[in-house]
Amino acid sequence: MIDIEYECVQFSLQLQCQQQFTLPHARLEKSTMSFAKRIDSAIMKAIAEGQTPPSPAKLAEALHYAVTPGGARIRPTILMSIAAACGDQYPKLADAAATALELMHCASLVHDDLPCFDDADTRRGKPSVHKVYGEALAVLVGDSLIIMAFEALAKAAVDEPMRAVAMIKVLATRSGMPNGICAGQGWENESKIDLSAYHAAKTGALFMAATQMGAIAGGHDGEQWEELGARIGEAFQVADDLRDALYDEETLGKPVGQDDLHGRPNAVQQLGVDGAIQRMRDILGGAIASIPKCPGEAMLAAMVTAQAEVLTPIKWRAEQAAKIAGE
Ligand code: IPE
Ligand code: IPE
Ligand code: MG
Ligand code: MG
Repeated sequence: MIDIEYECVQFSLQLQCQQQFTLPHARLEKSTMSFAKRIDSAIMKAIAEGQTPPSPAKLAEALHYAVTPGGARIRPTILMSIAAACGDQYPKLADAAATALELMHCASLVHDDLPCFDDADTRRGKPSVHKVYGEALAVLVGDSLIIMAFEALAKAAVDEPMRAVAMIKVLATRSGMPNGICAGQGWENESKIDLSAYHAAKTGALFMAATQMGAIAGGHDGEQWEELGARIGEAFQVADDLRDALYDEETLGKPVGQDDLHGRPNAVQQLGVDGAIQRMRDILGGAIASIPKCPGEAMLAAMVTAQAEVLTPIKWRAEQAAKIAGE
């Protein structure tokens, strides 16, 4: 999974490096790699602290299993990119925020895969946490990761109390009720689903957390960055619906066809494949227009443009390239 995503990013960056945004994309590629290192080392440090003796051995091992190998780490990468675009005034805070956000995301996946939710046997190309460690430990892994996320921000409060508290508030709002991930998962238990509230909470919320926490870490006000997060999150949900409909389990590293199986409303069912791809691209166009003024505005626009390519299904990209070549 990581390899596929990584190659997709490289592919889209290479493509666009040959096109009009050469300078921002070359810089973007370099910074994305350095963000990946920062993100991974901050996450590993938090996990190692959670495994400190006398921790129970199986739960300690399962914590590590749940966060490695990572998926695309898209949320913390967006967070870091925005912190950098705003001037990266508080890098330690950016590291803590990226860690907290990714741990919260990993926790949500561990719980989402449980039999009482989606009952998914695989995640990120390997058996899901409850398949290896059992349901009780999977519940505890999710709980521990959520607590670790807030702990990471509390630790960062020593240096930057006001900004860390603002981030704790953002992460809580985007994870809990009434508009966070808990609400998103809660919608699946309603007989009548408000689709936009469902998607905004299930997926959009953590992208809003990414843009807002990134801005706060960069020294800006988080409020203005909500719209960008909402738009990227909406586009990501459409892309996830496309992947769920078009890809196979081996490629995605998790079960596919889940929307149909669970009877969930989704973009492909409503718009068809081409319509959904167009919708995703339109949303990302709007996302670019909503980027607040900041020193790295051009870099962020390039990042969102690159995401549009990464999120577009490979087969459709190949068809488009063939059409252009034939013209
Ligand atoms: C999966 O998110 C869950 C959704 C909100 C659709 P990702 O596709 O970002 O999962 P990983 O972290 O890369 O595995
Ligand atoms: C998961 O949504 C979003 C969470 C809040 C965990 P899905 O159930 O649609 O995503 P996948 O397909 O399992 O990654
Ligand atoms: Mg689910
Ligand atoms: Mg699921």
